[in-house]
This record gives sequence, structure tokens and C-alpha cells, in this order.
Amino acid sequence: MEIHLHNKTFTPYISESEIQQSVKNIAKKISNNYKNETPLFLGVLNGSFIFCADLLKEYKHACNISFIKLASYEQTTSTGTVNELIGLNEDLTNRTVIVLEDIVDTGNTLEKIVEILKQQPIKEFKIATLFLKPDVYKKEIFIDYVGLEIKNNFIVGYGLDYDGLGRNLKEVYKLKEN
Ligand code: IMP
Ligand code: MG
Repeated sequence: MEIHLHNKTFTPYISESEIQQSVKNIAKKISNNYKNETPLFLGVLNGSFIFCADLLKEYKHACNISFIKLASYEQTTSTGTVNELIGLNEDLTNRTVIVLEDIVDTGNTLEKIVEILKQQPIKEFKIATLFLKPDVYKKEIFIDYVGLEIKNNFIVGYGLDYDGLGRNLKEVYKLKEN
């Protein structure tokens, strides 16, 4: 069924069960690789909060969770794009950090996170994203775990918003073309 958020109409796109299956798949792959250590999951706020919660419930081994908050703005200069609103405040010395992103679109946010992590004395970092728009993503950073690849549609739900609304939807909707 269609939904309306602000002035726009969205149609059902990815079901709750398909999302849950993707989350389980990612948790399983990470478990297989990291069950013998204690990785630090690093959620990227706001969009990834539901993905983080569901992934951790599916992850059955020792782990830690922390969050970083970034926001992208309209470009005012040729370089400045993504701002850090809540930074890292734990000791990451020798830690394996697994970044949890809701969606990778242009990859600008990811690039900023990698820049931040490279300044830390970590052991290694990996990137997990629930959704990826492969037609848009053109950066070099390798994404280790991808839940679902999607077309270049604007989506909402499961943590993702349209101008603040829609994050609480259990399934994902896409913007209806006019
Ligand atoms: P980036 O373009 O890869 O830097 O993506 C930046 C951020 O924009 C993501 O982390 C999301 O929070 C948001 N975003 C990207 N694509 C969508 C979308 O289709 N719907 C809602 N938010 C999105
Ligand atoms: Mg995000």
C-alpha cells in the first residue's frame, strides 16, 4: 500500500522478511570471520540505528557497539562535505572495527569515516552496509559486507528517512515516480 510522507508518495519496495534475511546473512558472515575475537561494531547515526540493533541481536558472539554521527551538507567549498556531530570517544587501540552503515549512495560519508578511522591505532576496519546503490557508488573503498544492492531509487524505512519521516517503518518504500 502507498504511503505519504510530507508531500511525497512512496510505494512498497523491500519486504520486512527480505530485510531480516539480509541482516541475518551479514551477521552470519561476520560471525564466521570474527567469532574468535571481540569486534567493535561502529554504527553510523542516524540511519543505521535499526540495522545495528537487529544485526547485534543476530550476532551470537562477543562484541562491542559504539556510534558515530555524521551529517552531510550542501557543498560550500570544493572539499568540505561531511561533518562529524558525535565523534569517537573510545580507545580503539588494536581493535577490529566493523562499520555499520544503513546505505551507501555516493560514498561521501564512508570516505569521511575511513579518513577518521585511519587516524586511529586500530588493528583493521571492515565495512558493512545493509543497502548499496552500485550505479551511484564510484569510490575506491572496498565494501566487505553488502546486504542488498538496489537501483538508484530514493528509499525510506528501516531507519532511513525522507526529511525526518519514515525511519520507523518496518519495510522499505521507494519514491513513486510521477
Ligand atoms: P552517501 O551519499 O553515500 O554519503 O550517503 C549519505 C547518507 O545519505 C546515507 O548514510 C543515508 O543516511 C542518506 N541516504 C542515501 N541514500 C538514501 C536514500 O535512498 N534514502 C534515504 N537516505 C539516503
Ligand atoms: Mg546514514
